[in-house]
Amino acid sequence: MEETDRILELREELHRHNYQYYVLNAPLISDQDFDMLMHELQNLEARHPEMFDPNSPSQRVGSDLSQDFQQVTHRYPMLSLANTYNREDVADFYQRVKDGLGGAGFDICCELKFDGLSISVTYENGALSRAVTRGDGVQGDDVTNNIRTIRSIPLRLNPNQSWPKSFEVRGEVLMPWASFDRLNSERELRGEQLFANPRNAASGTLKSKNSTVVAERGLDAYFYYLLGEELPSDNHFDNISMLGRWGFKVSDAMRRVSSLDGIYEFIDYWDKERSHLPVATDGCVLKVNSLAQQQELGMTAKNPRWAIAYKFQAEKACTRLNNVVFQVGRTGAVTPVAEMEPVLLAGTVVKRASLHNADIMKSFQLHYGDYVYVEKAGEIIPQIVGVDESRRCIEGQIIPFTSVCPECGTPLVRYEGEAASYCPNDVSCPPQIKGKIEHFISRDAMNIEFLGPETVDEYYNRNLIRDAADLYSLQVGQLCGADGSKLKSARKIVESIQKSVTVPFDRSLYALGIRFVGKVVAKALAKHFRTLDALQKASLEELLEVDGVGKIIAESVIRYFRDDRNRMLIGKLEMAGVVFEISEEDGPLSDVLSGKSVVISGVFKNHSREEYKDMIEKYGGKNVSSISSKTSFVLAGDNMGPAKLQKAQSLGVSIISEEEFLEMIKE
Ligand code: IVH
Repeated sequence: MEETDRILELREELHRHNYQYYVLNAPLISDQDFDMLMHELQNLEARHPEMFDPNSPSQRVGSDLSQDFQQVTHRYPMLSLANTYNREDVADFYQRVKDGLGGAGFDICCELKFDGLSISVTYENGALSRAVTRGDGVQGDDVTNNIRTIRSIPLRLNPNQSWPKSFEVRGEVLMPWASFDRLNSERELRGEQLFANPRNAASGTLKSKNSTVVAERGLDAYFYYLLGEELPSDNHFDNISMLGRWGFKVSDAMRRVSSLDGIYEFIDYWDKERSHLPVATDGCVLKVNSLAQQQELGMTAKNPRWAIAYKFQAEKACTRLNNVVFQVGRTGAVTPVAEMEPVLLAGTVVKRASLHNADIMKSFQLHYGDYVYVEKAGEIIPQIVGVDESRRCIEGQIIPFTSVCPECGTPLVRYEGEAASYCPNDVSCPPQIKGKIEHFISRDAMNIEFLGPETVDEYYNRNLIRDAADLYSLQVGQLCGADGSKLKSARKIVESIQKSVTVPFDRSLYALGIRFVGKVVAKALAKHFRTLDALQKASLEELLEVDGVGKIIAESVIRYFRDDRNRMLIGKLEMAGVVFEISEEDGPLSDVLSGKSVVISGVFKNHSREEYKDMIEKYGGKNVSSISSKTSFVLAGDNMGPAKLQKAQSLGVSIISEEEFLEMIKE
């Protein structure tokens, strides 16, 4: 078989396995076999760049080239639904539909209301062509590259089905609870702000400029609306069922009913059952099933008259407040946490609830023994939402917010414009020090594999470490038992610590834990300044020149380096051999390609495609995947695809050989 035919065959096979795994939850082959097929495809695609296809299953991993989203006008505006909160409103809706249809019979399609963000995806000739966020309903952001990384969204439709040549589907992008929990625990470890709920997490993720971030975060999507000129059926239910057959994930919960009681039954059932679903839902959506009747009913200025959303009441429980304790995080922020009599809420037993900050806590005027209402409204962390004052038994003493750090006794401070109270003692307040060290060793920072929060805790308690630099003086003898037990693991730990000194500069910079300097900002700063020394000397204006750095970040960087203790820590880390600059192998500083958009095509002799891509970035250029009039030049190896060649020629884009390119950057 020709290699190019094998590519097509592998793509089809991998699309099918993707569907089995991510949509049906019923894999037909092992993960290992899947990976093998994927590798085979990736290798063949590398040899046949002319066969590039953005919808190949190999493209699901995303790209870390920064992208700016283009604004796109929706072909059909994206409407929202009127919300209702009680049975009477549902009955009113039902009656309005009945009256509107002049007494004709009708069915209602009942669905779950998924709590994520809506997306509109266009398919042309069975292939995903564009995905746009809702935006303001008229215009949204083109997030196609990010959407492609969501495994349950088909890049190509099931070839054994007949679908319209061109159509649009709408659905909800969601972060399943499992992905959400994983993401938040990683963020907590790194001292980053937690996402309040899966909706915010999904939204933040989908707007990421780096599609590899999206690929890693485990998003999912359910589809619930089909639009186009030729639809397969004259009713909504059958159209959505058809979407399922074409390869989309649609909800099994969808039901057709023909009475108000049928609607209530659906609502009551899912109000209880939804706590077992893998994704967040916040209500039901009721839609008139017949498309002709939908048209007949039409719409108001904002919403269709043929559909409404019924929102579930957030589940609430009432329980006794025993105490309020105060927790200190890596940044020194102090959070009040209510300790309560355990109570069952939305399927789990709850005994602690966040009170967020001093102002929120004060607003409840809490007393010991108060009965408090706790709510979980799609939020993972239960919240106190009120107090039953009629059950208050002790008058008088309100539980005060602490004025000192519960861990080290230092008086707390509050910065202007911030709601949180902080313990300013970042030199010797134990949770702050341990939190900083945990951040330092984490995977995206120094990646010291054999250390974790428990070992950090142990070494801290044994007085072996007081800051991250102390890790580098640890000796095997200190870490194993006096009798030589745990010798092997002690060796591994010391080895992995020593090995970490050479992580790239953006990661050693991120590891310092400068406030507001996350992974992406650290990368941008490292690339721009190239050495810690240069970064340290940068003025506010110079910092603001860096892509993605605003005033808050710039000021935080300056504040960090102004502090003698931080400079001392850096000195100690440098003494230990930690590299704080972009190494020579990363290439010389140059911006000969600054402002240039380059497309790579063909097979190369002197360097691999990936190496050329890196070079383009390093010399200030930008890699783009398709040729347009904005492309500066095409870097072409052997066997450049004929379509690309023709496009470049017709747009007058110059084609540059490998040798000419190397000459250009004077390698
Ligand atoms: S139908 C014209 N169905 O709720 C009808 N929407 O305000 C278009 N949503 O923006 C929407 N689950 O983000 C529909 N099963 C479902 C839904 C759903 C969640 C969201 C969607 C929309 C909002 C309605």
